[in-house]
Amino acid sequence: MSEIVNKKIEVYVEAHSQAEPELLQKLNKETRENIHSPRMLSGHFQGRMLSMLSKLLQPKNILEIGTYTGYSALCMAEGLQSDGKLHTIDVDERLYDLQRRYFDLSEYGENIIQHIGDAKKVIPTIDATFDLVFIDADKRGYKKYVELVLPKMNAGGVILSDNVLWKGQVLENDPEKTDNRTKSLQEFNVFMNTHPQLESIVLPIRDGLTLSRVK
Ligand SMILES: C[S@@+](CC[C@H](N)C(=O)[O-])C[C@H]1O[C@@H](n2cnc3c(N)ncnc32)[C@H](O)[C@@H]1O
Repeated sequence: MSEIVNKKIEVYVEAHSQAEPELLQKLNKETRENIHSPRMLSGHFQGRMLSMLSKLLQPKNILEIGTYTGYSALCMAEGLQSDGKLHTIDVDERLYDLQRRYFDLSEYGENIIQHIGDAKKVIPTIDATFDLVFIDADKRGYKKYVELVLPKMNAGGVILSDNVLWKGQVLENDPEKTDNRTKSLQEFNVFMNTHPQLESIVLPIRDGLTLSRVK
């Protein structure tokens, strides 16, 4: 399966959207040079999209599931209210120091709270309600993450779920050709679009991003 968006269009879209801030360019470069699986990083276009959505929503509290090197957290922090908090969770403790270094280089260091551990265990321990949630961790956990965060969402809050088109593999109908991650995402996409508390729209950008508004 291929990328959803044509490479030339991607380049054009980036050239005609806001520039990637300098600190994020450095983090992007350091991630590509030194960290495993750099394709996981949201990158210029999706990062600007997260920043824009966050600035439109002006959240008091944000939750991110899947910090990686902190790129998307820094993008969403751009829209936080000045006394707001962004909680971000990752199971990989080796990434903690790099995340903190970049958070402290930004103007949002004091607003960002890192959590290390399995998000299924960490989410219930966070004492906050959220206006914006970004789900970007293990694909088989997505449905569970939504079930855990829904009671903590403020009315009108937004849940963003990444990689929901899984490079187009969600189109596969033959169960024998469908791996477990793809099956989970196929089920997740139905779950989000039929959930009585949510209004969802799947945006075919990058690897697919679902935007769900809590009623
Ligand atoms: C796609 S990356 C996140 C990318 C980041 N949001 C960005 O855009 O720059 C996924 C991250 O989820 C983390 N992860 C995987 N399973 C997890 C779990 N059960 N709980 C918390 N984090 C998890 C991985 O360690 C990895 O760093």
